[in-house]
Amino acid sequence: MKQMIIEGEHKLTGTIEIGGAKNSAVALIPAAILANGICTIKNVPNISDRDALIDILELLNCKVTLNNNELIIDSTNLKNTSIGAKLSNRLRASYYFMGALLGREKYVEIHIPGGCNIGSRPIDMHLEGFKALGATIETHGDKYILSAKKLTGTDIFLRFQSVGATINLMLASVYAEGKTIIHNAACEAEIINIADFLNNMGANIKGAGTSTITITGPTNHHDAEITVLPDRIEAGTYIILGALCGENLCIKNIVPEHLEALTTKLKEMGANIKINSDNIVLNATKNLKPINIKTLVYPGFPTDIGQPMSVLLTQANGTSLFEETIWENRMGHVPSLNKMGANIKVNGMSAIIEGPTKLKGKEVIATDLRGGAALVIAGLIAEGTTTITDVEHILRGYENIVSKLTKVGAKIELKEI
Ligand code: EPU
Repeated sequence: MKQMIIEGEHKLTGTIEIGGAKNSAVALIPAAILANGICTIKNVPNISDRDALIDILELLNCKVTLNNNELIIDSTNLKNTSIGAKLSNRLRASYYFMGALLGREKYVEIHIPGGCNIGSRPIDMHLEGFKALGATIETHGDKYILSAKKLTGTDIFLRFQSVGATINLMLASVYAEGKTIIHNAACEAEIINIADFLNNMGANIKGAGTSTITITGPTNHHDAEITVLPDRIEAGTYIILGALCGENLCIKNIVPEHLEALTTKLKEMGANIKINSDNIVLNATKNLKPINIKTLVYPGFPTDIGQPMSVLLTQANGTSLFEETIWENRMGHVPSLNKMGANIKVNGMSAIIEGPTKLKGKEVIATDLRGGAALVIAGLIAEGTTTITDVEHILRGYENIVSKLTKVGAKIELKEI
């Protein structure tokens, strides 16, 4: 078990380099097995979710080589199609092996995926899509067995623009015969990254990034390469931090268009923010205006930045409203923030935040990944020392967070307890 100890109220200055996107990398890694050859994935973030996926690849008899941020996956000799509960439960994204193995091997045994406790997280749309492609699904307790004699392209209508279902169905359908059309697909930049990778290995996918994606299969696959796009959620987290305690803090290696929902809100608050072609420079701003935030699917305000943003709202001058619409349990961090001195009232999936409130260092618990990131921000602006436990949640998704923050002047350390 690890604990993070933060001494607050230091100005942060210098440059934070953003790594590859977690939510793209965790799909690209399982997608690599569809090449039935050798794939190179560049800019892979150094996070514990990556390591969990490598363990699954090795279980499937893939050869994996990791050189810093480059991952080489040789899936030529893939032989297993069964992933036990222990590995499936280590992360949410283990479920991308459902689509990838069903596509390539027409068979997969896998358990209910793990991941943050931010809501009930059903996978019914994934399963309905697999069925529509021709798969048979058996459930035995927590275990799913998906099999098919062959997969056939079809029209699939998602009732919600689910990121996971869109990706999983793209993975399964590249080997389906004929045309698969995913209607009401998610439009996140990560979806384009996955489609580009699959197209690089020979697939025929059109429309990724729009709500209608067409996959024409089956196609002959071959070795391929892809670079993970920059992590807009990691960037968003540090941008919010810069608005609170930056002194010419530069957040580098970003795609500004992917962050427009956040930067528009920061401008509305009056934050001192300068957007350049691949970086954003921030200075702490006094007299921030309160605002209303409602999380939405892309290109709306990202649910994954809502919790970090709630910390910024505790420092605005007046009443802000933070409304979550994707996950039922996005308020797990609020009791910790209130313990530190915030004034946040939660009502179901909404929170009313009164600011500004002086935050004080306390012992707090990270209940989930983004809630944990919110507590790191709170600790960095609080008076005194904040100790965060259960930081494993944070390390699942933020690459080298301690060294990146230390480099710009934060007093933060990780301790084994
Ligand atoms: N949903 C269903 N049925 C399904 C699938 C989803 O009802 O079959 C519902 C979910 O319960 C939720 C909504 O649809 O209410 C959105 O779920 P989505 O499938 O889009 O989310 P996901 O793919 O499970 C990914 C990210 C999340 C991020 C969401 C939304 C990964 C590994 N996870 O989850 O990231 O919040 O998209 O953008 O890509 C995080 O990084 O902290 C994180 C939780």
